This record gives sequence, structure tokens and C-alpha cells, in this order.
Amino acid sequence: MKFAASVLALAALVSGAAAQLTIISPGGPNLWWVAQSQNVIVWSCKTSPYENFTISIANSNPDILVEPLAFVAQQPNYDCSEAISQYQVTMPAADGYTILLSNSLNATDVYATSQPFEIKALGATYPAASATPTSGTTNSTSTSTSGAAATSTTTKSGSERVVASLGGLAAVVAALGFSLA
Ligand SMILES: *[C@@H]1O[C@H](CO)[C@@H](O)[C@H](O)[C@H]1NC(C)=O
Ligand SMILES: *[C@@H]1O[C@H](CO)[C@@H](O)[C@H](O)[C@H]1NC(C)=O
Ligand SMILES: *[C@@H]1O[C@H](CO)[C@@H](O)[C@H](O)[C@H]1NC(C)=O
Repeated sequence: MKFAASVLALAALVSGAAAQLTIISPGGPNLWWVAQSQNVIVWSCKTSPYENFTISIANSNPDILVEPLAFVAQQPNYDCSEAISQYQVTMPAADGYTILLSNSLNATDVYATSQPFEIKALGATYPAASATPTSGTTNSTSTSTSGAAATSTTTKSGSERVVASLGGLAAVVAALGFSLA
């Protein structure tokens, strides 16, 4: 389903069971970027086993990118999200993009790959939540990882409770039009 990646990311945050790094945004049909504009990358920093990584962009169409293009050499994991300026990524509007988080010392060691996403033309609206790109990843969310509950990750009530505690990230999900209720 459309929001599987976001839900999985939330589930990972909730359970804390498997240490893993996933890209929460962009990715999928509802979390796009806008060309020649500032965009944001959000990842599951709380469950990431990695302290840092290289951020690259790729495209399934070799006419757009033959190979992944790195644009942040070493990103500290604890930032949880990163605003990307129009000067860092100058890719044209197209679909089929993915973001890769990889080992800074070995580009073929890819830690996480986003769902494919579109870069829309300059002037397109942002996804609602991306208008406030770091709201879901401030340190105010850090209380959620261990506290909120290793108990229920799949029941609706459990999800709602954790989403509430996640604060800004809940806004990201809610702004996607996705209801956990
Ligand atoms: C980057 O992360 C690796 C492990 O993921 C760690 O060994 C290394 O010290 C880190 N480098 C910096 C500059 O934090
Ligand atoms: C780089 O990472 C790939 C994939 O994990 C691995 O197969 C390869 O051996 C690594 N290369 C080095 C030099 O560590
Ligand atoms: C968030 O936490 C990290 C490390 O835990 C810290 O380096 C950073 O400065 C904090 N950011 C804010 C806005 O407090």
C-alpha cells in the first residue's frame, strides 16, 4: 500500500526491535521533491545502527543519472533529517528518483534506499508535511523511542498513542492524509 514505507518506519521507531535505517521521506507517490527548491530527507535516526553515512540520489533512467550522485559526503545520523538546498541537488523534474544512504567509506555498501519518488517541476506545491521539514525530527521526539512502548506496535490504539508521542512525525504522516485511526 501507498504508505507502507512510512508505516514501517513508524513501526521501527515504535518497536525498536530491529536496529535499522530507513528513509521516511522522500519516497512513494506522496512524498515528492520540488526541483530548484529546498527539499528534505528524513530518516529513522532512532533505530539507525550507523553513526553517519553518505547521501546520494539515483534514478532508474540512465538518461537522467548513470550512477548514484553523492551530495552529502558524511551526514551524522543524529540530525534525523537534512534540508537539501537547490544548489546541492540540481536534478531535473522527473520520476524514478531514489535516495541512498551508504557507507561513507564504501559507496557500494548501501544502508538504506528510499521508495522511488518524483521531483516535480519548480512551482509545484510541496507535500504538506514537507513544508515544515524538520518538525518530525526535533529532539522532542527522542522520548518516543524507548518510552512510548515496546508493547503494541500493530494495534490501532498502540499506534495512535505512539503517533501522539512522536509529535511532529505524526504531523508528517497525518499531513499525508494517512489515518492510523
Ligand atoms: C562514522 O560511522 C562509523 C560507523 O558507522 C564510525 O566507525 C565512524 O567513526 C564514524 N565517523 C565519524 C566521523 O563519526
Ligand atoms: C564494500 O561494500 C560491499 C557491499 O557491502 C562489499 O561487498 C565490499 O567488500 C566492500 N568493499 C570494501 C573495500 O570493504
Ligand atoms: C539534538 O540532539 C543532538 C544529539 O543528541 C544534538 O547534537 C543536537 O544539537 C540537538 N539539537 C537540538 C536542536 O537541540
